[in-house]
Amino acid sequence: MLETLTELDGLRARVAAWKREGLRVALVPTMGNLHAGHFSLVELARRHADRVVASVFVNPTQFGPDEDFARYPRTPEADAEGLDAAGCDAVWMPSLDTMYPFGVDGTVQLRVPGVTGVLEGAHRPGHFDGVATVVARLFNQVQPDTAVFGRKDYQQLAVIRYLVRELAFPVGIVAAPILREADGLAMSSRNQYLGPDERPRAAGIHATLQAMRRAFEAGEGVEAVERMARGRLQAGGFDVDYATMQRADLSGPAVPHAPWVALVAARLGRTRLIDNLEPGS
Ligand code: PAF
Repeated sequence: MLETLTELDGLRARVAAWKREGLRVALVPTMGNLHAGHFSLVELARRHADRVVASVFVNPTQFGPDEDFARYPRTPEADAEGLDAAGCDAVWMPSLDTMYPFGVDGTVQLRVPGVTGVLEGAHRPGHFDGVATVVARLFNQVQPDTAVFGRKDYQQLAVIRYLVRELAFPVGIVAAPILREADGLAMSSRNQYLGPDERPRAAGIHATLQAMRRAFEAGEGVEAVERMARGRLQAGGFDVDYATMQRADLSGPAVPHAPWVALVAARLGRTRLIDNLEPGS
């Protein structure tokens, strides 16, 4: 039976009691509005720990001024029901004051160098600093042994791994595969913003990523692959932020015979979607 925790003392007491019993605790951080993709993270967490805590907190510090913080969907009751059904043990739902006791302007803000300057970081300045800031707090609050993050947010995963290493958090990071709809669209809370005419077209992102893989594996150069991908997306009605073939560690353009990742961020109307494809996925 899922326990809903909203106060730090209650959370700490619950996790401490589990740890006294020698149980391993996993954290699944989320911003709520949960879907099957999130529930698969809970299931994966179960395989790495004895108890699973999911956090639900829409984090203002990772949204830019023109982004969708105010209209980001908040569905706490449905989230709790879904987490219960997915076998989650507790949900951590802190208020804004609990997460940021001195207010958002008074927060100790982390700044993560390197990988945060490109791709999503270039298009959403400050986004990853906000993610790192809240994830560091979640780790301090929950004190999990392990935490699960989705591969859909590829660059976020890289930032979290960097954060854990840099600040020596004793937390193992588990990367969860991307869950897709039948037509290939990666599951995301933002998909519900898509209008009925946009929804079928949104699958074009995954089809483009697959075309990028085929072209790159057939020996096309990175620039040609990226040009093809951008053209394809634009023909499908997308405004493209990036469509790129990168080295797996995001240190620069992909090279043949080395680990790579194809990444896309593009808008359909007002909805910004991101997705990626790794070899073998
Ligand atoms: O991936 C998300 O939903 C968020 O960026 C996270 C990790 C929960 C931090 O707010």
